[in-house]
Amino acid sequence: MTETIWWKSGTVYQVYPRSFQDTDGDGVGDLAGITARLDYLAWLGVDAVWISPFYRSPMADFGYDVADYCAVDPLFGTLSDFDTLIAEAHRRRLKVILDFVPNHSSIAHPWFAESRASRTSPRRDWYIWRDPAPDGGPPNNWLSNFGGPAWTRDEATGQYYYHAFLPEQPDLNWRNPALRAAMHDVLRFWLERGVDGFRVDVIWHLIKDEGFRDNPDNPDFAPHQPGINRFAQVYSCDRPEVIEVIAGLRAVLRAFGERVLIGEIYLPIERLVAYYGPDLKAADLPFNFQLLETPWRAEAVAALVAEYEAALPEGGWPNWVLGNHDRPRIAARVGPAQARVAAMLLLTLRGTPTLYYGDEIGLGHVPIPPDRVRDPWERNEPGHGRDPVRTPMQWDDGPGAGFSAAEPWLPLSADADHRNVEAMRDDPGSILTLHRRLLALRRDHAALSVGGWRGIELPPDLAAEMFAYERFAEGATLQILLNFGADPRAVPLGEDEWEVLLSTRPGRAGERGRGPFPLGPDEGVVLRPETSR
Ligand code: GLC
Repeated sequence: MTETIWWKSGTVYQVYPRSFQDTDGDGVGDLAGITARLDYLAWLGVDAVWISPFYRSPMADFGYDVADYCAVDPLFGTLSDFDTLIAEAHRRRLKVILDFVPNHSSIAHPWFAESRASRTSPRRDWYIWRDPAPDGGPPNNWLSNFGGPAWTRDEATGQYYYHAFLPEQPDLNWRNPALRAAMHDVLRFWLERGVDGFRVDVIWHLIKDEGFRDNPDNPDFAPHQPGINRFAQVYSCDRPEVIEVIAGLRAVLRAFGERVLIGEIYLPIERLVAYYGPDLKAADLPFNFQLLETPWRAEAVAALVAEYEAALPEGGWPNWVLGNHDRPRIAARVGPAQARVAAMLLLTLRGTPTLYYGDEIGLGHVPIPPDRVRDPWERNEPGHGRDPVRTPMQWDDGPGAGFSAAEPWLPLSADADHRNVEAMRDDPGSILTLHRRLLALRRDHAALSVGGWRGIELPPDLAAEMFAYERFAEGATLQILLNFGADPRAVPLGEDEWEVLLSTRPGRAGERGRGPFPLGPDEGVVLRPETSR
């Protein structure tokens, strides 16, 4: 039962490179900054670092618009800085996962310049060009994820090109074999430099409907939602042929050994699990974003975990995400008390957890004054921007919170003088210490890192506010009790003596007792029954 493959037992930590550590004084983080903070990551106890894009880019979407897939943008440093980063990471037994952005390039990529040059260009078909509709308008009703139409007319050739995101991010055509081969070479370029895997951007978008049919209306659309939700995205993405494309990417990785392929996929559970592919030959870890979308209530979360566990294909390895550079911060969503419960949930569920930088210090919502808005989405559709979740990491109480000697590209949180690594690292009650202890516990107990999962049935009055489950491996069982509510509870656990291995409340570790377990308000605990000692 015990699996030791690194990407199964380990924890992934996401670094948004603009915001982790600036070393050259321009207010923007860089690769040398990540290298300088590797000791911190090793100290924290994570196993792999996923770095959001640092490739050459005009930064229309902050690096998710790539102009050269095999070059480092000067803003972030050089290829040699990258080689240093990876060598230093490996020296500390940290894996390095890159962000691969294959669905679209930047409009500034030389491939697009060639493609757009003429209808007969050899690279015309590397992108998605269509004739106008009979009325001269866009070829179909597909919308951009960042607002407005997903088609832009190119005057020179009279055709429209498709962009699921900004007009500066034209979609590549993955039905074209030459494009596929070129992209496989990009993967090899980085694999040969030693990277341990890729997080693949919007992987469920890679293949579009061959007939470019209109998307149907979405009956659940509400006006507060982004415009893209007006239609159900059934023809513009999640097409069955995409699985074979992903299997092709995975095969490139596997030629280099146990490198991991993580796919970014926002789909409901029943569709998500299809991305493991037949015989588990597609994504190793189709990112499971369900915790980002489920209301923070005990019963909803318990039902979600059970549903996901039941839907996984035989042998498919689970994974969990609580935050990323696109979604509201967990501490902002659930508040500081429940953020601790959430950390325990993330790091004790079965499957690979991904921890978003800054969540370990409980960074909350950072308001962005209008004159400092950077995210193009915020400009197109106010209220949907992602700047508040991309603010700089806070290291100490010095100028720029130790992130930068210059004015940071986005503001710091108002409480940066005490919400920072230095202030929290030796505080036994800090959320940072809690994360570190949870990560250490995961490493020490196979039950947590690679063991099985089963729910604990609770009486209905408790189930309304609490989620409880067991993790087990090699004859040892641990119990996790999470109180989603603000009232204390007495949790019946049978007659065995229990021992607190870790609590979200400082000072309880080591406590032993018999009978109902006294769980405090907003408390989570990991317990060891005496039979597992
Ligand atoms: C993904 C990224 C997001 C980006 C988009 C377009 O969803 O996570 O940040 O804007 O793809 O590449």
